[in-house]
Order: sequence, then structure tokens, then C-alpha cells
Amino acid sequence: MSNNSAVGIHDLSFATTRYVLPHAALAEYNGTEIGKYHIGIGQRSMSVPAADEDIVTLGAAAAAPIIARHGNDRIRTVVFATESSIDQAKAAGIYVHSLLGLQSACRVVELKQACYGATAALQFAIGLVRRDPDQQVLVIASDVSKYELDSPGEATQGAAAVALLVSADPALVRIENASGLFTADVMDFWRPNYRDAALVDGQESVQAYLQAVEGAWKDYGQQGGRSFEDFAAFCYHQPFTKMAYKAHRHLLNHVGLVDTDKDDVERAIGQTVAYNAVIGNSYTASVYLGLAALLDQAEDLTDRAIGFLSYGSGSVAEFFAGTVVPGYQAHLRSEANLDAIARRKQVTYAEYRELHERSFPTDGGDYSTPTETTGPFRLAGLSGHKRIYQTR
Ligand code: CAA
Repeated sequence: MSNNSAVGIHDLSFATTRYVLPHAALAEYNGTEIGKYHIGIGQRSMSVPAADEDIVTLGAAAAAPIIARHGNDRIRTVVFATESSIDQAKAAGIYVHSLLGLQSACRVVELKQACYGATAALQFAIGLVRRDPDQQVLVIASDVSKYELDSPGEATQGAAAVALLVSADPALVRIENASGLFTADVMDFWRPNYRDAALVDGQESVQAYLQAVEGAWKDYGQQGGRSFEDFAAFCYHQPFTKMAYKAHRHLLNHVGLVDTDKDDVERAIGQTVAYNAVIGNSYTASVYLGLAALLDQAEDLTDRAIGFLSYGSGSVAEFFAGTVVPGYQAHLRSEANLDAIARRKQVTYAEYRELHERSFPTDGGDYSTPTETTGPFRLAGLSGHKRIYQTR
């Protein structure tokens, strides 16, 4: 296999939570004018995990359809990317490996860099597949985004997991070699080990994101990347969907396309925001939910280039490109994706608040969780400081 052979995303599947809170309910509770949520940040609702859901159950639910379709014989690596890790030592991917019955001849590892981790996982996976094109890598991006109640960040919560099967001769998207990188030490969003909810300087985080977009794009050019006009669409990390528009406008200004009209911006971004607008921020999964929404809705993207901008606060950003593979439509999961969103059960603001305030006891005792999820896996409880998972 030469260095130029195609490696990329062979399959993509996602899962989200049992519950959903519409922004209208949040607005009614806190007296915010609903336009701020629907238009100002571009969010309609947010996925809310049930008491028996976490990043493991979501990640396993996202990956299960991939294993059902492709088997697991060639998967020798699982990379689990998350900001909302459940253990300081053990990789969440090991629970997923067990729930999915993956082979023991497999390396499993967890990666962290805020919302950027899944893109690092994808790039590392590509390196492994280039070394041995017979192998496949399962990348799982799974997160529960949690901010303090009654804080400005509250409206930008969400939860979901995306699973990507990375392989040679991919059926969906080939990932190109050129990649633009940017790292800066900035305290825009972080979460010390003793905290459940993230700390954030909201306005600074927006500026840090825009600066990172520009930095990653500049480096992408220096690495021999495509020109801006080559791209049919752009998948940005979407902490809230309006951020993709802000980022795109920023790049347009940077490349001198200041006069680009609204319709052109909508063509570049519009189809990438559909899932994130109703799921909310899923941190590491967000940029790939953007890809799922784009592939599911676009008329035909065969051989077209897509730009990806992954941003993780703190901060690291990467701009890279993918080309859509002929015949990709036959491999999409559009119906299942819509169903994952539609079957969520609406909770009231009070119910959401109770779930938000729930925390696991830390005394090592035995605790069971109520059966709430309708997903294939559940967190049944805790015993002796261990999380107990079940296949439903
Ligand atoms: N109708 C229409 N629009 C309205 C409106 C109304 N009635 N009222 C307000 N708006 C608009 C405002 O004009 C503003 O628009 P612009 O940004 O275009 O100016 C928008 O709604 C938001 O209003 P504010 O800036 O006043 O909102 P805020 O300060 O209360 O909160 C936020 C916004 C800072 C993003 C907050 O939601 C937050 O802290 N979120 C968490 C952090 C975050 O998501 N940061 C993003 C970058 S970091 C990142 O991407 C990593 C990550 O995932 C965390």
C-alpha cells in the first residue's frame, strides 16, 4: 500500500440519550427570550442522559450497529475519545470492548483533549491502518456535556456518541494527508478532576475558538492543503450550531471572501447543523455528528471535498479534508439516525434538573439505578466502586 492509498471513514453510527429537554422549557423556567436560544445560539433542544446512561452505554450503543454490519475480526484497536471520562485509570473503551464481545487480541485506549480528542483518535487510527491495511480501528467519541445549572453554559449542554470504523478503501469518506494544526495554552474551558461540571469563560472560549480556526487554517495552507473554494461543505465543531456560522464567517474574512452572501454560507454549513441543533453539545462527537447530518441530507456529494475543523478548548484545533467516496449513499444510516433523535422522551424542566443534580455515591456501597434507558446497554449500578453494565 502506498502512502497515497485511501484510508478513512468506512462506517459511521451514532447514539444519543433516552431523554430530551426542549429549549422552550429552559426558557420558560429562566425567563430567557426564546429567540436567544433558537436564533442567538441556534439550539432547539438538548439530549439528557437517563440515570442508567453514561459515556459507556452511549459509546457501546453507537458502535454496536458497526459490529453487526462488519463483524469484529479486523478490529485490533479501539480508541475511546472523551472529555467526560468516568475513571482516572481504566479506559472506558474496555467496558465497550466487553459489552460488544470484541476479540481479546485488541489494544484499547482512552484519549483526552476536550472536544478535539476524537480527531486525534481518527488521525492515529489512520496511521495504524496505513501500517497494516488489513486492520480496522474502531474510534468512539462519547460525551455528556455538563455545565452548572443556571449558568450561561446550561443552554449548550447535550450528549451523544459517534462510532467511526476507520479502514483502508473506506466506503464513506477518504481522509487526506494534509492537516493544519494549532495549539495554544488558554483557559477557556476546563474541568478539574474533582468536578462534574465544566468551568468555562464563555466569551473567551468563543474568541479562543475563532483564533484556533484561523491558526489551523493557516497551517493547513502551509502543509499544501486545498484552497477554500474547493470545499463543498465545512463540518465545524459545534458547541452550539451558531458557532459554526461564526467560525465560517471568520474564515471567509480571513481568506478575503468578505462579501460571501448568506445563501453561500448556508450551502456550506446548513446541512451540518441539523443533528447538533436538537442534540446539543456532544463535545468530541459533535464534528462527526455534523458529518452524519451532512451526508444524510446532501443530494450528492460524490467526489466532493469536505473541510473539517475540530476544536478542543484549552486548546487544540485541526483543519483537514475528506473526499466523499462514490456509492457512499448505500452505506448511510439515515433512518436509524433520525430514529435515534425522534424516539427520545421529552422531560420537564423539573425532571431534567433532578437528573442533572444526581451524582453517584462515593462510599463504595451497592447502589442500583432505575431502569430508564431504552438503549441496548445500561448502567445497572455501582458496587465496590465499580460500575456495573448490562446488555438489555
Ligand atoms: N433573539 C435572537 N438572538 C438573541 C436574542 C434574541 N432574543 N438574545 C440574545 N441573542 C443573541 C446574542 O446577540 C448573541 O449573538 P452573537 O453571539 O451573534 O452576538 C447570542 O444570542 C448569545 O447571546 P450572549 O452572548 O449574550 O449569550 P451568553 O453570554 O449568555 O452565552 C455562551 C453564550 C457564552 C456561548 C454560553 O452559552 C456559554 O458559556 N457556553 C459554553 C461555552 C461554549 O460553548 N463555548 C464555545 C466555544 S468553546 C468550544 O467550542 C469547546 C466546547 O465545546 C465547550
